[in-house]
Amino acid sequence: MLGQLLLAGSRSSLVRRSVSGLPLTRKVVDRFVAGESVAEASAAVQRLVDGGLTVTIDHLGEETRDAGAAAATAKAYITLLEELRPLALGARAEVSVKLSAVGQELGDSMALDHAREICEAAALNGSMVTLDMEDHTTVDSTLGILRSLREDFPSTGVAIQSYLFRSEADCRDLATAGSRVRLVKGAYREPASVAHQSKAEVDKAYVRCLRTLMAGKGYPMVATHDDRLIAITELLADRFSRSVGDYEYQMLYGIRTDKQEALAGAGHTVRVYVPYGDDWYGYFMRRLAERPANVAFFLRALGGK
Ligand code: FDA
Repeated sequence: MLGQLLLAGSRSSLVRRSVSGLPLTRKVVDRFVAGESVAEASAAVQRLVDGGLTVTIDHLGEETRDAGAAAATAKAYITLLEELRPLALGARAEVSVKLSAVGQELGDSMALDHAREICEAAALNGSMVTLDMEDHTTVDSTLGILRSLREDFPSTGVAIQSYLFRSEADCRDLATAGSRVRLVKGAYREPASVAHQSKAEVDKAYVRCLRTLMAGKGYPMVATHDDRLIAITELLADRFSRSVGDYEYQMLYGIRTDKQEALAGAGHTVRVYVPYGDDWYGYFMRRLAERPANVAFFLRALGGK
C-alpha cells in the first residue's frame, strides 16, 4: 500500500515540488544517486570499475514533451561519453537511456534520432547502450526503436519487465543471437489489465522469462537484488551450459553493494546501474517504493539522525 502511494507520488508534480524542497533530501538521495555532475559520475564509475565491477550510466530525467529538453538530454549523454573516452573503459562502461527523456512522447522518430546519436558516441568508446523500459504504454514504441537501432548498433540492449503479461512473449522474440536483454521485475504502477499485481506472481513470471532467456541464444542481463532469483539463475546456467561471461548480473547503485562485490569476486560480470544528474525525483521515489526500510531511512535523515 505504501509502495503504491509512493509510486503515485512519483508522478505527482505537487509531491515532486514538496519533496524536492525538503532541506535534507540531498543526503538521502546521495545513497542512490552518484552525484549531479559528469565529474561526480566519472569518479563513481572509476571507483566501481577499479573495484572489479562494470557500469551502466543513467543521466537522470524522464518524460519530456519539450524538443529542446530532449535534445539537451541526448547532448548530456554525448558529453558524458566524451568525458569517459580517455578512461578507455570500453564495454565496462555503457549507458542506459530512457526514451521518454529523448522525445518519445513527441514521436518515435525524434527518440530514434537522439538514441542513434547516443549509440554513435557509445560506439566510439567501444561501448553500447541499453534502453530502459518505462510504463506499459511505451513498450511497443521502445521495442520498435530497439529494432531500428540494432540494424546499425546490434549490441543495443533493452530492459524487459517480468510484471507485464506480455513480457514472456517479448522474451521469446528477443532470445536470439546477439540480443542483450536486461530482465527486471518492473518499477512502475501498472493496472491489473496488463500486469501481475502480487509479488509472488511477478517473481514466478520473472523465473519463466529468465528460463526463456537463459535457454535462448542471446545475452541475458539478470537485473535483480533477489537472492532466490540469483540462485535460480545459477541453476539455469548449469542446465543450459552457460558459463560465467555468457550472462551477467546487474544491480542498482547503492543497493546490496556487498552482494555486487561477492558476485564479482566469484568471477561474474556485475554491472552497476549508476544514475547521476539533478532530475533525481522519479528515480528516487521508485527506490523508496521498493522497500519500506528506505522510507524509514529517509524519515530518519529528515529528523537529522
Ligand atoms: P525485490 O524488489 O523483490 O527485492 C529483492 C531484495 O533486494 C529486497 O528484499 C532487498 O533486500 C533488496 N532491494 C530491492 N530493492 C531495494 C531498494 N530499493 N533498496 C534497498 N534494497 C532493495 N525497472 C523498470 O521498470 N524499468 C527499467 O528499465 C529498470 N531498469 C533497471 C536496471 C537495473 C540494473 C536494475 C537492478 C533494476 C532496474 N529496474 C527497472 C528496477 C526493477 O524493476 C526493480 O524495481 C528493482 O530491481 C527491485 O526489484 P528486485 O528484483 O531487486 O526484487
